[in-house]
Parts: sequence; structure tokens; C-alpha cells
Amino acid sequence: MSVNKEVKRITTNTLQKMKSNGEKISMITAYDYSFARIFDAAGIDVILVGDSASNVMAGHETTLPITLDQMIYHAQSVLRGIHRCLVVVDLPFGTYQSNSDIALASAIRIMKETGAHAIKLEGGEEAIDSIKRIVAAGIPVMGHLGLTPQSIYKFGTYTVRAKEEEEANKLKKDALLLQDAGCFAMVLEKIPANLAKEVSESLHIPTIGIGAGNHCDGQVLVMHDMLGINTEFKPRFLRQYLNMHEQITGAVQQYITDVKSSDFPNENESY
Ligand code: KIV
Repeated sequence: MSVNKEVKRITTNTLQKMKSNGEKISMITAYDYSFARIFDAAGIDVILVGDSASNVMAGHETTLPITLDQMIYHAQSVLRGIHRCLVVVDLPFGTYQSNSDIALASAIRIMKETGAHAIKLEGGEEAIDSIKRIVAAGIPVMGHLGLTPQSIYKFGTYTVRAKEEEEANKLKKDALLLQDAGCFAMVLEKIPANLAKEVSESLHIPTIGIGAGNHCDGQVLVMHDMLGINTEFKPRFLRQYLNMHEQITGAVQQYITDVKSSDFPNENESY
């Protein structure tokens, strides 16, 4: 594994340099102190406090229900666990779409109340005014194009986006608009690998892919998916590195057995 230990603290500038040097960016989601601590110590470059918390932490079907207060709670917990990585926090649905005043106020709350280093929001052309206002206030913004889960009811399905020329052209245009508006990076979610390659090569800011092939400047996965805590979600793009569901189930079953049989606690575990 190659983690650049010379980097004391990852900043948006570090990510820019990584792109220039051809070093891939690793990003993972986290929502609490304990996992953030492990991921940071392991050498992850970026932690995303994603609004996927709505699914994997709260059990909702979509990302839509999570609130700004709930995102702030998760982000505060993550920030207490990290020393090195960059922490990006999602603006949840309904906290930036209506106008740029509201978007700026939401972004400021996240930065002020959590100590996060950047925010992320979904959308292209329609989000540009808000992105410009937030960037002008000194807040780094990560964009998010392709499959944008906050628009799931508009899409109607979680299948691959921008397969057709018209949508692919819009995505390419949106990517340039996001860069021009001042985004420091952008997530490309579930789009064809060739399109992600073209977009990544056309931009000077880094792209972070999820289901967008190997030519993005970095990759992101949801921690519950890559650690195998979720077993139901197995899209083609997911590489599962652990089977925590099985391991935790086994451990808890053993604990139950040990309690029921009075094996636990033994003398060494007693005072
Ligand atoms: O909320 C999230 O986890 C995300 C990633 C899928 C990029 O936005």
C-alpha cells in the first residue's frame, strides 16, 4: 500500500497536486467518530460525510429525508476522529436547491458547527449560482454529477446515467461549468467509463468516481458497502473488501452462546 506519509494534512491543494502528479485519490464515507478514526489512521485521503447516512445509518430508502441538523451531528462526530484527511460534508436535499441565499446559509452552518473542510452538493447548471456564492464565501465546494441520488424520483431508477449522447453532452458541459464556478473537485457517479475518462481529461480539477470506471482521478465507496456491512446492495461497481455482516453475526452469536452457557465471564474476566 502506498500512503504518502509526508503529507501532514490533506487539503484541496493536495488533491490538486495529486491529480497533477497522477497520484490517485482515495475517498470513503464515514458518519461517526470510531470509523473516521480508523480510516484516517489507515491513510485515507478524503472522508465524505455523505447523505447516504440517510440510508445506511438511519435506514431510509432514499437520501431525501436526512436533515441539516442530522448531517451536522454526523460531521461533528467524524471531525473529532481525524488528524490528516480532508473531510467533505454533503448538503442534504432541500437545503440548497431553492436559492443561493439558503444554499450559502446551509454551507456556512456546516463549516461553522462541524469544523469540516468542504461541502459537496449535487447538480450541474442549476446549482451554479449557489456554488459561486459558497465559493465566494471561502468555502471549498465538491460537485456531484451523473447519478445524483437526491433526484432519484426524477430519474425513477438507479441505473447508469448519461449513456445517451444528449445526456452525456449535458454532463460534459456541466462538468466545465462546475470547474469554472470554482469547484475544487467533483464526484462522477454511475456513468460509462469512457465518458468519465473524457471528462477527467478535460478538467484540471480532480474527478472522484463511483461506478465511473478506472480513469477518474480518485475513487469513492460507501463504507457499509465496501466493508460488507450491507449485504443486499451488490452493484457491479462495488468491490467488497470484508464481510463484516458475516463476521459480526458470528461474533454476536458466539457471545450469546457464551452468556447462555455461563462461559462468559470467566474468572479472569471478573473482579
Ligand atoms: O452520500 C454519499 O455517500 C455519496 C457518495 C455515493 C458519493 O454522495
